[in-house]
This record gives sequence, C-alpha cells and structure tokens, in this order.
Amino acid sequence: MVKSQANLEREVKLLRKQVNTLNERVRDRFDFLLDELKEIGYRNKFSLEKNETNVSGLVSVIMPKKSLSDLVLPWDVESQVIMALKQINNYPKLVKGYGLKRILKSNTIALNFIGQPGTGKTLTAEVVAKYLGKKLYAVRYSDLVESYIGETSKNIVKVFNYARESSAVLFFDEADAIASTRTIVMNATDSENNLIRNVLLKELENFNGVVIFATNLAENFDKAFERRIHMHILFKMPDAPDRERLWKTLCRGLKIHKDVNFKELSRRYNFSGGNIRNAILNAARVALSYNKKSLTMEDFVKGSELVEKGSLFMNGTSYNKELRYIG
Ligand SMILES: Nc1ncnc2c1ncn2[C@@H]1O[C@H](COP(=O)(O)OP(=O)(O)OP(=O)(O)O)[C@@H](O)[C@H]1O
Ligand SMILES: [Mg+2]
Repeated sequence: MVKSQANLEREVKLLRKQVNTLNERVRDRFDFLLDELKEIGYRNKFSLEKNETNVSGLVSVIMPKKSLSDLVLPWDVESQVIMALKQINNYPKLVKGYGLKRILKSNTIALNFIGQPGTGKTLTAEVVAKYLGKKLYAVRYSDLVESYIGETSKNIVKVFNYARESSAVLFFDEADAIASTRTIVMNATDSENNLIRNVLLKELENFNGVVIFATNLAENFDKAFERRIHMHILFKMPDAPDRERLWKTLCRGLKIHKDVNFKELSRRYNFSGGNIRNAILNAARVALSYNKKSLTMEDFVKGSELVEKGSLFMNGTSYNKELRYIG
C-alpha cells in the first residue's frame, strides 16, 4: 500500500536517472510508480492524466468519470452518500420552499468524508462531481502551505476563487490539519494557523457551491468548522461481503480465469478497496511475468500477499520480491 508521497517522489527521481539506460523492468517500475503517484493525487511534475489539468500548481482539475456503479460501499455509508446527493440536488427547493433564505448564512454545502486510507473517499468525491455534472477541483492541503506568513491564506483564497469561477466541486484532501482545533495562540505559527482557519471559514461561507473535505482523523474537530459541515460521512472498512463486491467491481472487464474465487479472496484478506485495487494490479503483473492469458487464483493470492506484507513497491525488500515474480 502506498504510504507517503515523499518516499515515492524520492524513488521516482532515482529511477528517472536510470530509466533511459536500464532495462525494461526498471521502465515498468517507473511507470507503475507514476500510476501510484497519480493515484494518491500527485500531479504536474512528471505527467498528467489526459482528463486532468493543473491550475497554478495548487489545484488538480479532474473531469470526473466514475459514477455510483463504480462505488462499493457498506449499505449505510452508501445511503448517506445518496442522501448527500439528494440534499445537494434539492437545496434550492429546500431554501426557497421553506423560506429558509432569511436565516441561512451561506449557500455552501460542505461535506466531510472521514475514513481510513483506501476506503473510497476520493473516489466518492469524483462520483459526487460527476453526478452534479461538474468538474472536481482537488486540492491537497499540504500543497497550499507556504513558509512565508500570510501566503497560505492567499492560496486558500485562490483555490476557492478558481473553483467558484468554474462552479466546480472543491475537494480538500488531507484536511485533518485545517479541521483540527487551533484556537489558543502560543506563538507566531499558532496565530498564522488561526488566520488560515478564519480565512477558510470565511471562504467556505461565501463559496455558494459544494465543498468536500477528506480526513483520516475525526478527533479534535474545530467547532466553528464543524458547524459549517452539513454532513459527516464515515467511510468504514468493508466487511467480507462488501469486499467480495469490491473484488468483482474492480475486476469488471478484466480477463479472469474461471478458477478465481472472489468469495475466498474476500474471506482471506481483510482489505480496503485501495488494497484490493493494488492486489489486482500485482496479480496482473504476476500473470504477465508468466505470459498468462488470464488472471488466475494463484496470481490473485500472490498479488494479495504482496499487499498484505505491506509497503508494496515502497522499500527494497518488497521491490525485490516483486521482481522475483516478474522475472
Ligand atoms: N468504496 C470503494 N468502491 C470502489 N472502489 C474503491 C473503493 N474504495 C477504494 N476503491 C479503489 O481504491 C482506489 C483508491 O481509493 P480512494 O483513493 O478513493 O481512497 P481514499 O479513501 O481517498 O484513500 P486516502 O485516505 O489514502 O486518500 C480507488 O480509485 C478505487 O480503485
Ligand atoms: Mg484520497
């Protein structure tokens, strides 16, 4: 599973130097890392997806492709997502129909997706944007942070402006830092953080669109921030039947051998959707190394075990193991 962008970036830089001179394996690995980087939202420096552009280095503009049929969620989570979509669609009716306009401070609809890595938060943000027929403007909070005082707040204002101009859905990934409580001023950093928080609250109020935050941690939520969130949705880890649906959905359209037993895989491996995706990618690479025509149960088991051992493709050990399968 991908752990940190910094590690991946370091590895990509190293590989980039070697890529022109070394053999096919290294080239494959380089491509794979690029895919992984894109998967975790990395953009711009190496290459971009065709459906993705970049606004001033702060925002990834994503033309959403995924819809509800690509999403596999525990039923209660799914019903909350659907409820959120209905709420967004019926918002004007809600405001005008019941005369709420007078007491509403803002027309912004803010959602917070909370959950462990790989549970489908980013994917769901894409699904929401597609459902609304809008682009998704994805922002990673760490990309907005600048070392000069006041610059981070300016970046926040900028991204809200960009999204407003295109009436896009704004998606703040890694929002833990902004969402956490920071009210007691101890030093210059704290007062800068308070400024950032206040700017964000103000922008949120004036946005008049849909903003989605994704957080891994739900603790210490800033109260003022929390008040502006319409719905918090907890993305739970899938249980075995959900995992089976995930395997099947993510394998749609792939060449699968008839010996593959998705029920068995979902029983054996306690994976998130993100893990399952990685296991499938591994399985395909394993199958390729044996020139197989379709993906077999053995490939899926090997692929899953690589994921289970952790830090897939991230450190020398798992890399070497993977090369053993490839070569
Ligand atoms: N609920 C899901 N339904 C369908 N596919 C999923 C689901 N969860 C994860 N996946 C698969 O795993 C990939 C990664 O998931 P995603 O990026 O949405 O996770 P995340 O919750 O945003 O993780 P992180 O906290 O690391 O950003 C998706 O692109 C998809 O292929
Ligand atoms: Mg994500």
